[in-house]
Amino acid sequence: MAKTFTQFVCAECGAVSPRWLGRCPSCGKFNTMAEETVKTEAAPKAVKTAQGGRAKPLSSVVFEKYSRISSGISEFDNVLGGGIVSGSLVLLGGDPGIGKSTLLTQIAAHISREHKVLYLSAEESCSQVKMRAERLGLESDSLFLLNETCIDGIESELDGVEYCVIDSIQAVYTDDLTSSAGSVGQVRECAAKLMRIAKSRNITFFIVGHVTKEGALAGPKVLEHIMDTVLYFEGEKQENFRILRAVKNRFGNVSEVGVFEMTDSGIRAVTDYSGVFLSESRGEEPGSCVTPAETGARCMNVEIQTLVAKSYGVPRRMPLGVDYNKLAMLIAVLEKRCGLNFSSSDVYVTAMGGMKLSEPSCDLAICAALASAYFSKPVDKFAAVFGEVGLTGEVRAVSYCEKRVAECVKMGFKKVLVPAKNMKSVAKYADKISIVPVLYVNTMIKALFKD
Ligand SMILES: Nc1ncnc2c1ncn2[C@@H]1O[C@H](COP(=O)(O)OP(=O)(O)OP(=O)(O)O)[C@@H](O)[C@H]1O
Ligand SMILES: [Mg+2]
Repeated sequence: MAKTFTQFVCAECGAVSPRWLGRCPSCGKFNTMAEETVKTEAAPKAVKTAQGGRAKPLSSVVFEKYSRISSGISEFDNVLGGGIVSGSLVLLGGDPGIGKSTLLTQIAAHISREHKVLYLSAEESCSQVKMRAERLGLESDSLFLLNETCIDGIESELDGVEYCVIDSIQAVYTDDLTSSAGSVGQVRECAAKLMRIAKSRNITFFIVGHVTKEGALAGPKVLEHIMDTVLYFEGEKQENFRILRAVKNRFGNVSEVGVFEMTDSGIRAVTDYSGVFLSESRGEEPGSCVTPAETGARCMNVEIQTLVAKSYGVPRRMPLGVDYNKLAMLIAVLEKRCGLNFSSSDVYVTAMGGMKLSEPSCDLAICAALASAYFSKPVDKFAAVFGEVGLTGEVRAVSYCEKRVAECVKMGFKKVLVPAKNMKSVAKYADKISIVPVLYVNTMIKALFKD
């Protein structure tokens, strides 16, 4: 017999408590526990054997090759690891109005040329979706629209469907729970239902997810665990460029980044991304430095800009696209090992084009940009810098050195500062670009500012 009981679930981490608590004991956030009624079915009879069958040796397992299809947008395929894997669940998160529905409408229309696609729009009416499709110049007979918010109702509509878009997971609900759509329990339950459908009927789902104020996907982390691929669509709404990044991918590399442009006729992949992450005034003003950042299958030259300004109180460190602790560490290294003094200055650091730089190889370029701002001397427009900085002030070797130097050569740079320990691997580029080996941060300062 079905029983119902009440529990409290944390909206941030999904922790469950039998009573209300002001602070979640698991993640420590305040006012995140929300009430939820749970209906339990009578437990099935105990199953004595494993449901998946008998255990077998690894060598006798037959390998099923994933079949992939193209989304019609090359950058999207790259981020997924080479195309859409059939039967997978792809979660697309992003700020409101960033273009999630636009991107998925375009992809759905492209796929529908050869496959039956269902676009479940829980947030907008069918005519709104049609209006968008018309603006984007999309027309298809095998793209089906459904305006439905109850997830239980869609199963009957999935006959023959191979690809399905759910826009969005926060707007759909299941009758099994009494809490409102978008609550932690609903999001988790609906995602679990979609996963069961995807795996049993081999349907690929693209699921739109909203992000919280802090920029994480709304709903508990459990949502990310269920998905095969989790993508974030980011960018400044005022600017036309958008970046798509994978934070989890069971079928590809997560450091891959896709660059897109939002145009009147929809979202377009940007393949010549050289100008996206570099400013026009590069090399004219102090405080900027270019670094070749590794983003999966390729390298991109990204400009780091810094501003060192007089502080009128407690000195502030304001990084954007760079980790706060990393910036604090690099400032400490510059102060202790190179004699620069930032104790009465506010320091601002930003990576151009909304790029997020988490690689250690960007350390030396951040130091170069900070030193440039400190000395008020611009870094040469045609110089690029990379290397990991240790607490002793030494510059350590980084991976993909050859690929980074090759990118600098391709982009027309004339000088590149590389970790001395990486020199051997890039010696063959010596006739195309001036390669300066750097052993300590001090060496970099001498090479760039004390010539
Ligand atoms: N008529 C139009 N002409 C040009 N661009 C438009 C037009 N209408 C919308 N856009 C662009 O599309 C963007 C909204 O796209 P979309 O609806 O796909 O975003 P979304 O991420 O799905 O938003 P939401 O979270 O609200 O669902 C707008 O920010 C705007 O840049
Ligand atoms: Mg939308």
